[in-house]
Amino acid sequence: MHNARMSHAQQAQPSNSVCFVRAYAKINLTLDVLGRRSDGYHALATVMQTIDLYDTLCLTPIDDNRVQLVCTTPELSNNGNLAARAAESVRQHLGLSQGVRIELHKRIPMAAGLGGGSSDAAAVLLALQQWWQLPLSSSDLLTLAASLGSDVPFFLIGGLALCEGRGEVITPLPSRWPASMRWLLLLKPAISISTAAVFRNLPAADYTDGTYSQAIYQALQAGNMLRPEDLHNGLERGVLEQYPEVAQARKDLSLAGVPFVRLSGSGPTLFAPFAELLEATRVQQQLQVQGYEVYLSRVIFPDAGNVCVV
Ligand code: C5P
Repeated sequence: MHNARMSHAQQAQPSNSVCFVRAYAKINLTLDVLGRRSDGYHALATVMQTIDLYDTLCLTPIDDNRVQLVCTTPELSNNGNLAARAAESVRQHLGLSQGVRIELHKRIPMAAGLGGGSSDAAAVLLALQQWWQLPLSSSDLLTLAASLGSDVPFFLIGGLALCEGRGEVITPLPSRWPASMRWLLLLKPAISISTAAVFRNLPAADYTDGTYSQAIYQALQAGNMLRPEDLHNGLERGVLEQYPEVAQARKDLSLAGVPFVRLSGSGPTLFAPFAELLEATRVQQQLQVQGYEVYLSRVIFPDAGNVCVV
């Protein structure tokens, strides 16, 4: 069976073609931590949205029976990288001997709460499936994705979704987004944060019952306004307490006059929404002068054109 699949894949993929794919970042509108599970993970309810800050990956066939990864961020140029592990998991699952070289143009800051590594992994799964026309069902892809990380299944679909379980149970939401949040400023404090450490240090007092994510889910489904008080991230209090750089950045964003500011995922990136471009760029420039790394972004709902074979 595996051999039949392999020869199918090798025939389907012209040897001189390359495959480009974009991997978008995400923000968390809400993040309810419901409690600690017996497997050590935490049960979550979180509403995530992909944004147009993206990494670009270029996949090329190689003659060797292996995965090779090079990245513009040198410390990510190794086979422990989630993108390389995604390619290896597909090869193993289908018994493929075709090798692949992955060039990764990194733009999404790493260990930042924006899901960059997870998105790169999902992008590789989608790219290989389309480029090599692999016999992988949606459920196969979801299983492979979930084995790579809790956020990876979300990035197979992208857009706006409620994610439950440990993050891998995805319920997509309609492609609608409030006009008051048309522009998103992302401020990345100059530190990296380990997601595992944030969860490990989270007190039970910060657990919630999923109410915030449900409220936002229902408002988005009905096309209603979002109430800023519902945009709750259960990891934020602990991160602000443990990382003064993030607390200071939050203060500086507030002083610059943003409507409100929230932590994305386990941070340290903070995001602030704007209705007007010029107001967003005014605040961006002010914070850049203060020495901050700030990105101007917007939401995006990825489509099939995201994978490009040439
Ligand atoms: O799933 P992923 O490998 O991305 O998660 C990184 C770490 O974050 C896990 O090892 C775990 O410590 C923590 N985590 C958690 N509960 C989740 C997701 C992640 O405790 N739902």
